[in-house]
Amino acid sequence: MTAKKKKSEMINLTIDGRKVQAKPGWTILETARFNHIHIPTLCFHPAVKPWGSCRLCVVETRYGKRGQIAPSCLIHPVHQLEVFTDSERVKNVRRWVLEMLLAECPASREIKELAAQYGITSTRFHITDPKEECLKCGLCVAVCHEVVGVQALTFGSRGVKKQLETPYRIPNSACIGCGCCVSVCPTGALQARLDTVRGDLSRRTGHGFAH
Ligand code: FES
Repeated sequence: MTAKKKKSEMINLTIDGRKVQAKPGWTILETARFNHIHIPTLCFHPAVKPWGSCRLCVVETRYGKRGQIAPSCLIHPVHQLEVFTDSERVKNVRRWVLEMLLAECPASREIKELAAQYGITSTRFHITDPKEECLKCGLCVAVCHEVVGVQALTFGSRGVKKQLETPYRIPNSACIGCGCCVSVCPTGALQARLDTVRGDLSRRTGHGFAH
């Protein structure tokens, strides 16, 4: 077998007991989607590189005696891998993730609805800002950089103070108003922020962006 042929060999694995094949380079999430197997996601978009910030897409993988819980948008399958998208372990981790997300962006209707699907209606984690809708997943920043090719958005500060901003917190003429950031936002947080990015400061709250 030539090296070229070996490289293009499909990878055989199972997802939820179903035999499927992955192209070399595909992630578990891409393989599942190709086979119409649902895995919930928030920070994934096929137009940009995945970086695994939300952890909602976790799946359970087993390979021989080894098993782990891992984000499916980052992990590439290997031959004979067993993947479980909806096991008790997976559901348990997703519930924890959703509780954390509810604390992170408690005002997001999308997150509340998603959490409710897993029976989560409240959170044990500390809520810093009850009006927060932004998950800080970075999808809007990535789309602005990688797809639109401008740098109208960035993240400022770190840790719990991390927030979405324009570079140097000033209106940014690089923004072409394409709305890509708004359309990919998984929590609906950006609808009110577009005006701010383009220079309308009337909605600015003083600690970042208006909600
Ligand atoms: S979709 Fe995989 S970590 Fe967010």
